[in-house]
Amino acid sequence: MSAEPLPMAGEAPADPAALEEMKAEVRGLAADRGAVILAHNYQVPEVQDVADFVGDSLALSQKAAKVDEPVIAFCGVHFMAETASILAPDKTVLLPDHDAGCSLADSITPEQLADWQSRHPGAITVMYVNTTAAIKALTDYCCTSSNAKAVVEHVIAEHGPDVEILFGPDMFLGAYVQKTTGHANMRIWDGECHVHAGIRPSDITEVRAEYPGAEFLIHPECGCVTSVMEYVAAGDVDAENVQMLSTGGMMKYAEMAEADQKGRQVIVATETGMLYPLSQAAPDVEFIPANREASCRYMKMITLEKLRDSLRDMTGEVKVAPELAERARLPIERMVSITA
Ligand code: 13P
Ligand code: SF4
Repeated sequence: MSAEPLPMAGEAPADPAALEEMKAEVRGLAADRGAVILAHNYQVPEVQDVADFVGDSLALSQKAAKVDEPVIAFCGVHFMAETASILAPDKTVLLPDHDAGCSLADSITPEQLADWQSRHPGAITVMYVNTTAAIKALTDYCCTSSNAKAVVEHVIAEHGPDVEILFGPDMFLGAYVQKTTGHANMRIWDGECHVHAGIRPSDITEVRAEYPGAEFLIHPECGCVTSVMEYVAAGDVDAENVQMLSTGGMMKYAEMAEADQKGRQVIVATETGMLYPLSQAAPDVEFIPANREASCRYMKMITLEKLRDSLRDMTGEVKVAPELAERARLPIERMVSITA
């Protein structure tokens, strides 16, 4: 594995002075428009730098539900901006590029979900937040990677140990949650995120050989989750050195690692944008991507320039139709209230 810096996509000016000027322009526009800038951990560095708040899906939803400002400039992907609009219907939510979609959200349609539910009457539907508003409107509980296990445990506590659960659309997260909750009566949709699914067991084998003794941070959407759990079960990897975490959980781990001991090596299995906030939070820890190619082209569609244009022209509004938003709100509110 080469030690070259990871490519950071974007259309930000290459000249550092011009870049700082554009960042100042964006901050000025945000103040003029009464906008709060929310950014996901996978956003390009210069977008994270101008954001008021950077976080994971759950934290961004919680933040969106509480903002005072009239405008939310959302730097993430479409389903996240929709979720913000559903939770904050009186705010103007801007998404600087509407093509910023999600392959995981695209892996289930409302027709497919309705058909699945019709074949399992009485089952409780738990959907990962990476879904469209139309899917959420058919869902009982949403969850994110940081609270998926807690949501499923909540459903079991509320509906009894035999409750049938339809979990989707991410099959790797579903398998992880089923394994950690031990809930057998759970059916899992076979969707995946092309970026995380592409982080394979072979990547882990290679990176482990190169960095023996390194710790692991693994996003539960990854295609390597099952094999890492098998390494742990076989005693091949020390369980204490492996954490399955949301991107927000990884940030907390990084802060703890920085405070605890310098010079640690930590292998990170998730989208490579994560390396930037982790290194900011823990400059003395060496973070190593499990797969350097794991970059989400949708997340990288949001650039500083597009954010500037969106704030300047007040373009790119995402608005969920009120009737649909009404139905989608309940499962999202349940998600927001259940923390791990
Ligand atoms: P979290 O930020 O919730 O961990 O989700 C990762 C992701 O893939 C979002 O697209
Ligand atoms: Fe969707 Fe995967 Fe990109 Fe996240 S990383 S936005 S799940 S395609």
